[in-house]
Parts: sequence; C-alpha cells; structure tokens
Amino acid sequence: MAPVTFKALMVEEADQGRFTRRIVERSTTDLPPGDVLVRVAYSSINYKDVLSATGNRGVTRRYPHTPGIDAAGVVEESDSERFHPGDAVIVTSYDLGMNTAGGFGQFIRVPAEWVVPLPAGLTLRESMIYGTAGFTAALSILALVENGLTPAAGEVLVSGATGGVGGLAVAMLSNIGFRVAAINGHVDQSGYLGQLGAGRIIAPEEAIDGSGRALLKAVWAGSVDSVGGEVLATTLKSTAPYGVVTCCGNAASAELPINVYPFILRGVRLIGIDSQNCPMPLRRKAWEMIAGAWKVKQAEAMVEEVPLAGLDEAIEKMVARRRKGRTIINLQQ
Ligand SMILES: NC(=O)c1ccc[n+]([C@@H]2O[C@H](COP(=O)([O-])OP(=O)(O)OC[C@H]3O[C@@H](n4cnc5c(N)ncnc54)[C@H](OP(=O)(O)O)[C@@H]3O)[C@@H](O)[C@H]2O)c1
Repeated sequence: MAPVTFKALMVEEADQGRFTRRIVERSTTDLPPGDVLVRVAYSSINYKDVLSATGNRGVTRRYPHTPGIDAAGVVEESDSERFHPGDAVIVTSYDLGMNTAGGFGQFIRVPAEWVVPLPAGLTLRESMIYGTAGFTAALSILALVENGLTPAAGEVLVSGATGGVGGLAVAMLSNIGFRVAAINGHVDQSGYLGQLGAGRIIAPEEAIDGSGRALLKAVWAGSVDSVGGEVLATTLKSTAPYGVVTCCGNAASAELPINVYPFILRGVRLIGIDSQNCPMPLRRKAWEMIAGAWKVKQAEAMVEEVPLAGLDEAIEKMVARRRKGRTIINLQQ
C-alpha cells in the first residue's frame, strides 16, 4: 500500500516538564515496524492515557508521542497469516500507546501477537465502550467467579464505580445476578450508579475506616477494587470469611495500609489483575465473555463519544475528574 497521510493527537514536551497536545498530520511511514497495519475506527480514554497525555514518564519515556492504549479498527495490511485486509480487530495494552504510537491516531502498526479478532457479538464501536477498562473489569470478575464466588455468597463492593473499570464491573456483575454495592464518586452519581445496577450506594467517606481496627464487621462477599489505598484496606478488613477481592488500580493510592489479619483469620483472598501482560488465551476468553454472557445492556448510559478534534478537551475533563463512565473517540470523524 502506498503511504497514507492521517491525523493523530501528538503530545510534545514544550519545555522542561511542560507538555502540549495538538492534532498533527502523520504518514504511515512514521509508524513503527510491525506485522499488522490497522485503520483505527474507535479508541477510548483510560486512566493510563491521561498519564501518557500529560507527560508521565512512568508510562511514556519518549515524546513526541501519540497515546491511546486502546484501538479497534480494520486491517489494511498484514504480514501475518492470521490476519487479512478487511478483518475487524481489537488491539489493547501490551506497549500500545505507551512507547508505541497508539489509538489516538487514525492508523496503528503493531505485532500480530497484540491483535485480537473482533469477537462476534460486538461492533467496533461497542468494543471501545469496554476497551481496557471493560477488559480489566471482565478479568476481575473472572477472578471472582473462578475462585468460587457466586451470587448466593452475598453483596459485592465495587470502588471507582463512577469510572471506567468500576462502572463496567457494576454493570456486568448486576447483569449476571450479583447484588452490587457501588462507592460513589466525589460528585454525587447515585442515580447513574443505580442505572448501572448498583443496589446500594456507599458514600466515599463510609468506604474508609478511621478506627484503626485490624478487622471490621464482615459485610462483603467480594470486591472489585480499582482505587487502592485506604479504600482497599477497609474493604479487605470488611470482607467475609473466604471472600475474594481483586485489585487492579491505584486511582486513590498505591499504598495498602493493612496487616495480615483478614488473610490469616478470615481466609480472604486478594487477587492482582494485570491487563497489560494478560496471556492471549485468557485475553480471548475475557473478550468472549464481554461479547456474550457479560455484554452490558447499560453501555449507552455510560458512554460519551467525541471526535478526534474533541479529544484534548475530553482528556482535560478526565484530569479534572469532571466526567463519569467511558469516553470513546471516533477516529473517522
Ligand atoms: N491493572 C490493570 O491492568 C489496569 C487496567 C485498567 C485500569 N487500571 C487502573 O484502574 C484505575 C481506574 O482506571 P479507570 O480507567 O477506571 O479510571 P477512571 O475512569 O478515571 O475512573 C477512576 C475512578 O477512581 C475514582 N477516583 C479517582 N481518584 C480517587 C481518589 N483519590 N479516591 C477515591 N477514588 C478516586 C474516580 O472517582 P471520581 O468520580 O470521584 O473521580 C473514578 O471512579 C487506575 O488506577 C488505572 O490505572 C489498571
């Protein structure tokens, strides 16, 4: 294929520590080597994209850079026997959008090992309503159910529920019959959380115990946590014997101020979730669950769609915690 010119968001370091963002024209010849060239239809904004878009060198070492850890689109060129021009595909995580030009551009070029065929049951647009956030929620729920949690065990607590991972976890869990309690955000979103399927709303201050006790009343059968810190510590101390808690994020804090008592006196299991290096068989299983039994009927209530031209403002809203749910980017507008 002859080189194609396309649009992408570019993050540049203007001077020491100050970063700017603008839409630029690039060529497919600027993209890194790889087996599969994808024309991106949709991307989405995840927490990690905001870090990359604001100059966080823990996520992106080198600038100028195009973030976007999620992309869904159509194969334009392929050196891999597994993919052919016209195939609809999803690419999330690995190094996409971190140090490899990501889904905030109209084309990406990636290794074939990073590419997942779009599962039957999802459109490209729908797949990005989930994106890495929904994939991580699905990995978390797989961990709960594969460790024996059933709806009969009791209520499941979801933190970060106004965000992407948490919101999709609330919706998926409630759709498959779990009773869900959701921790509200810093702005009241109880109506929205109820719409997603939360049966009980927990105020942020209620989610953090100030007593300093090693164990609290056992309330939760399990939990999906994406905020870490005092919230996760309080959740673990409040989890019923043999309950299961997943941990994927640090939106509040990377610290975990807790001792061993929930683990040695109640057999509570804390399971780490890492979407980035998730092996391909588990990756495909999670996407199949998302496209099938766990497909969320509340998805449209969670999503705001913006064109590439609206991406900069959408990133600012996420930095300022002025949004809820998921933001997807229509790259072809
Ligand atoms: N391990 C993995 O593979 C993986 C994959 C995806 C995401 N993550 C991590 O999961 C976390 C959430 O990601 P996301 O994409 O869902 O982000 P998001 O859409 O921005 O949602 C963040 C959520 O955290 C809440 N929050 C933010 N700061 C907080 C604080 N100081 N205290 C308590 N709650 C706070 C927000 O509540 P408000 O409504 O109050 O703002 C919102 O509910 C991030 O840490 C991200 O890095 C990890």
